Amino acid sequence: MAHSSSLAPPKPLEASHAAAPLFGTIRVPGDKSISHRALMLGALAAGRTEITGLLEGEDVLATAAALNALGAHAARVNEHWIVDGVGIGGLGEPDSLLDLGNSGTSARLLLGILATHPLTAFVTGDASLRRRPMSRVTEPLSRFGARFLTREGGRLPLAVTGAKSPIPLEYHLPVPSAQVKSSVLLAGLNTPGETTVVEPQGTRDHTERMLRHFGAKVMIESAAGGGKRITVEGCPELTAAPIIVPGDISSAAFPLIAALIVPGSEVTIEGVGVNPLRAGLLECLREMRADLALINEREEGGEPVADLVARAGTLTGADIPAERAPRMIDEYPILAMAAACARGRTIMRGLAELRVKESDRLSAIAAGLTACGVRVAVEGDDLIVEGADNFPAGGALITTQLDHRIAMAFLVLGLAANEPVRVDDGAPIATSFPDFVPLMTSLGAVFRNPD
Ligand code: S3P
Repeated sequence: MAHSSSLAPPKPLEASHAAAPLFGTIRVPGDKSISHRALMLGALAAGRTEITGLLEGEDVLATAAALNALGAHAARVNEHWIVDGVGIGGLGEPDSLLDLGNSGTSARLLLGILATHPLTAFVTGDASLRRRPMSRVTEPLSRFGARFLTREGGRLPLAVTGAKSPIPLEYHLPVPSAQVKSSVLLAGLNTPGETTVVEPQGTRDHTERMLRHFGAKVMIESAAGGGKRITVEGCPELTAAPIIVPGDISSAAFPLIAALIVPGSEVTIEGVGVNPLRAGLLECLREMRADLALINEREEGGEPVADLVARAGTLTGADIPAERAPRMIDEYPILAMAAACARGRTIMRGLAELRVKESDRLSAIAAGLTACGVRVAVEGDDLIVEGADNFPAGGALITTQLDHRIAMAFLVLGLAANEPVRVDDGAPIATSFPDFVPLMTSLGAVFRNPD
């Protein structure tokens, strides 16, 4: 059962310089974005959806619990998850608060679904989620006819009353956000007529792919400036269909970069989703001259998948363009750790969206790296890291602010740093990568609980 991480006691964790190379072949848990969408579309489809490889992290469990509170039935049965859907428009009013824990994706996508169901729901989350902007979804969702009562700045907790007679919409995304795009498209499902989202830059397209997989009609055209115009036809017959969830590239990024920065390492990560709209990190690492190979490239469940083989070696600094940010938005914390160990300067441009993640990641990365003896600057929305061309000093305590990726990134840095790196709270790691510590330990990483 998902819970508000703010109530859990903090779990400090410390990583020490790896005494030996990291070595082995692993699989990482299922993709978080795809897992949320599989549960949600399964809940809206007619029939039983069987999901293989669902991520059982707290964020996804929060989505499952919310869907169950809305009248769908999602549960693990042996090796799989099954979802008995209620059909489009078939969800019912929950009789209690929906607590979505740490999960922005659960909150924003579910609000899209709720916005065109004639019911009232009350939504909250942990201290991190309650700080995050929801007006980016409540604003377009209001145009369907939904009503919201929110805290100042559109923040949670909020109440939503969905539209009884929703009006379709054409919406131009003001920020490149797959969550906002998906929220509007999901609202469009229970809206007669065509709902269109225009995105200035391509963002992850798992919602579009999966809608088609369930039989919805989704039209995708190119829009001015490299963007896309995505239209969903309302009130489709969504039919349950089996889903295979690939390994999450955003989780694979941690053992991958650990293997690149701990001398002598060689790690293979099998079955990783390499959707081009998610794989910007791999482009960066190639530019940084990482020894990285994709093998066994294939398609599974409508998503491209490969095995990643990473070997340690000298990384060089690179200039990462802003246009790449939507394709790797969750990977900047760990990329910054690779940059800290590289030879030369790495510039990561256009990171405004990092300020509104589980924490203000731009500040968290800069503060943490500075504390670890790395020279860092934030200029506007750009992050500049001067590589140590060696092992960074480390020896710092990192404040993670309920942010799983900040916690994992600095623990990986600790494997290469001269002195141990400690994070004040490793508990949020369970939101996306519950087995991070045992999996990394199986490769030879050394973590300890400093209590
Ligand atoms: C996600 C989209 C991204 C990403 C998040 C998951 C999704 O957020 O950071 O972890 O599943 O759609 P934004 O849409 O806010 O960029």
